[in-house]
Amino acid sequence: MKVLVTGGTGYIGSHICVALLKMKYTVIIVDNLCNSKIEVVDKIKQITNNQNIYFYNIDMTDKKSLEEPFKKHKIKGIIHCAGYKAVGESIQNPLLYYKNNVLSTILLGELMIKYNVKKIVFSSSATVYGNNISPLNENMELLPTTNPYGETKVINEKILKDLYTANNELSITFLRYFNPVGAHESGLIGENPTGKPNNLMPYISQTASGKLSYLSVFGNDYPTYDGTGIRDYIHVMDLAEGHVVSLQKIKKGIKIYNIGTGKGTSVLELIQTFEKVNNLKVPFKITERRSGDLSTCFADVSKINEELGWFAKRSIEEMCIDTWNHEQKKKDEKN
Ligand code: WQD
Repeated sequence: MKVLVTGGTGYIGSHICVALLKMKYTVIIVDNLCNSKIEVVDKIKQITNNQNIYFYNIDMTDKKSLEEPFKKHKIKGIIHCAGYKAVGESIQNPLLYYKNNVLSTILLGELMIKYNVKKIVFSSSATVYGNNISPLNENMELLPTTNPYGETKVINEKILKDLYTANNELSITFLRYFNPVGAHESGLIGENPTGKPNNLMPYISQTASGKLSYLSVFGNDYPTYDGTGIRDYIHVMDLAEGHVVSLQKIKKGIKIYNIGTGKGTSVLELIQTFEKVNNLKVPFKITERRSGDLSTCFADVSKINEELGWFAKRSIEEMCIDTWNHEQKKKDEKN
């Protein structure tokens, strides 16, 4: 079965490709390499020892080129990860985010209908819950997000819901990601933010490696047990395997699932775990809160557990070990 993975050389997408190839799917990657490198394709082949992978360097807002893989391959399913995802950047440059993240989904929907592709798993985000109180569940009313990035996820969910209303033979699943971290155990693929990282774990990893002199802890006056922000960190391979299960068990209609561990971890706890399991120090300073940050955000994962039989398996310790392993592999490659 041929599966199109948009954003397939990116952090999440590349791990999804590994999980798909392991399950003997054929993978067709569409990516414009704006936040990833073409070398990832060979890394995916190396990890899986599987050559059933095709790569198209395509800007998803260009419908003519996006149609190419649909002409060449009988695509049976889509996993749609492509999109800009930096919250701060989306506030500075909203039109870039609305054009890229929303137009790409519209064009993908048009090609799904034209080429009779009936299954799609969409990479959504916990951001759509706004400042609802955790544990967050799928029946909650969505509240305004704090940024255009989050709004593009809300809009894309709405677009796909309306697409289903007009074409009820489609099978559409939204996976609302919490905080993906870690790397494949080989260390060959992982999070490689171009430029300065946005998220906590790559900051911890780059500080530990000496690339950054210290980590800023954005506030320790939140109403949490140690005053720092609490998040639901999920190992990227657990997340990737969750996508494969979602595709395998997808049914007609719209299905929405949180994908997380259901557990919260504070910033200080993550730093301490990273230091302990990797036997190193991560120098940090407490600074002001980052505007728009929530105090606490973690998932109620009972729905995906019960309906798909999917459970996160990997621990916070494994997330920290695999992150550091990838960081060191990157350093070895550079030397
Ligand atoms: C986690 C915690 C920060 C950096 C974002 C997006 C979300 C999703 C995941 C795509 C918070 C603290 C962070 C640092 C810190 N992305 N922190 N120092 O903000 O929960 O979610 O990434 O789907 O949409 O909003 O993740 O990793 O940026 O922050 O103290 O240098 O770490 O305050 O408590 P976040 P994050």
